Amino acid sequence: VGSQVGALNRHIALIGFMGAGKTTVGREVARLTERLFVDVDEEIVARHGPIPDLFEAGEPGFRRIEERVVAEALVAREPRVVALGGGALGSEATRRLLRETAFTILLSVEVEEAWRRVRASDRPLAQSEDAFRRLYEARQPDYRETADAVAHDLDGVLLAALRVEVRSRAVRGLSDVLPGERSVALVVDEHVADLHRPSVDERFSVHLVPRGERAKTTAVAERLWRDLRVERDALLAVLGGGSTTDVAGFVAATYLRGVCWVAVPTTLVGQVDAAIGGKTGIDLPEGKNLVGAFHVPVGVVLDPGVLGTLPENERRNGLAEVVKTGLLAGRPLWDLPEEEMVRACAAFKCAVVISDPLEHGRRAILNLGHTFAHALEASSDYTVSHGDAVALGLLAALRLSGQPTDVVAELLRPEPVRVDRERAWAALGRDKKATGGRTRLVLLRRPGEPEYGVELPDGDVRAALNELIRQ
Ligand SMILES: NC(=O)c1ccc[n+]([C@@H]2O[C@H](COP(=O)([O-])OP(=O)(O)OC[C@H]3O[C@@H](n4cnc5c(N)ncnc54)[C@H](O)[C@@H]3O)[C@@H](O)[C@H]2O)c1
Repeated sequence: VGSQVGALNRHIALIGFMGAGKTTVGREVARLTERLFVDVDEEIVARHGPIPDLFEAGEPGFRRIEERVVAEALVAREPRVVALGGGALGSEATRRLLRETAFTILLSVEVEEAWRRVRASDRPLAQSEDAFRRLYEARQPDYRETADAVAHDLDGVLLAALRVEVRSRAVRGLSDVLPGERSVALVVDEHVADLHRPSVDERFSVHLVPRGERAKTTAVAERLWRDLRVERDALLAVLGGGSTTDVAGFVAATYLRGVCWVAVPTTLVGQVDAAIGGKTGIDLPEGKNLVGAFHVPVGVVLDPGVLGTLPENERRNGLAEVVKTGLLAGRPLWDLPEEEMVRACAAFKCAVVISDPLEHGRRAILNLGHTFAHALEASSDYTVSHGDAVALGLLAALRLSGQPTDVVAELLRPEPVRVDRERAWAALGRDKKATGGRTRLVLLRRPGEPEYGVELPDGDVRAALNELIRQ
């Protein structure tokens, strides 16, 4: 299941110079990924007293204590978020333990900014600016050498933890984005290939798939299985929207019992949602997404420029997921400029996936509005677009939550659709989130506080569904 990608099932260790914000960012990362947070300096203070006093007694003694506290934090089986002190990497034992147990992220900061933040503090190593700058330079090689990834802020840490990166002109320069010797099988939506002409070199074989949802069939999966002819150490690179990443990700999960894949999503839905988190699959005549696997891509590359050619209706589909994400996060992410908006939404999804990679629980919050949406789509034989259906679904979820609906109304302008009420109700009952005959819903206590697995009386759910349907 790609269980060792990034920080999945491993600690997230934050390293970096003092003043980088490891404690503040680490605490937020832990909250958003629902992991335990250990701040090594705070732990030392709690057990051994103030750090200036420990330094007074000699730095080597402090470093021994630090090494022990780090080791105790990292031996825990349950994956955690651990923020290390700026000088902790001086210990070879700590560096080794990080390599074995953690995905280590360097939280990078400019020296001027770091000094501004700490100069008034009682930190023993921040008493003179000259010495501070020298120490900063001296420690950089250790940080760079130990880090699996580098980030500059909270969202950067969350993205790095699932190996997601924002990279301009990645599609045009695809062969530079995927360096190395191994052969690359590029699976690409035929329409996207026409529009964006990804650069390839002699390592690549190119496999076109039909545009959009028509690619998510057993026939297309079978054709890919038979055409691939690559070794287990090959890389599958996938370029297209959620349909393309779903089918090709599924092929990557199953071909030779699993090959590594990299997703380069080209739709807003793909960049904020579908390409992140390793849910892959195809449709059957009996229903959408009925066959699939969890297979987390070893990299996801978000190229902002590629969204420039997206038609309005596809953008609308994506905006519905953006609004959903903003409601779940409790932040008006839809107000951000596009590139920042995509980055923030993707980061939030990373956090949710890291908290529950296989959807045993909390990952279900990502279905906010989707139970109703699936019912409307299915009962319209998929003539209602996913975006319109999600917009209506969010409306119903907010109404049932007793929350204001103005954001959804203003941004997505959902209009009731003409579908058969009985069919829609039956489809809602068949939704895969329905268990034991009752529908389990995702609701919001308030924006930023979702709850999942909520059971409401059938009458209430049906009334909310009917409100979305025109007579
Ligand atoms: N795996 C997941 O977690 C997950 C999450 C959400 C959605 N999905 C799946 O994603 C699918 C929908 O994907 P989607 O909304 O990304 O669209 P899509 O992949 O179905 O593509 C829609 C259309 O947009 C075109 N297109 C793609 N990129 C373009 C670009 N840059 N410029 C112009 N046209 C472009 C395609 O050719 C196609 O015609 C559904 O099958 C859904 O089930 C999966």
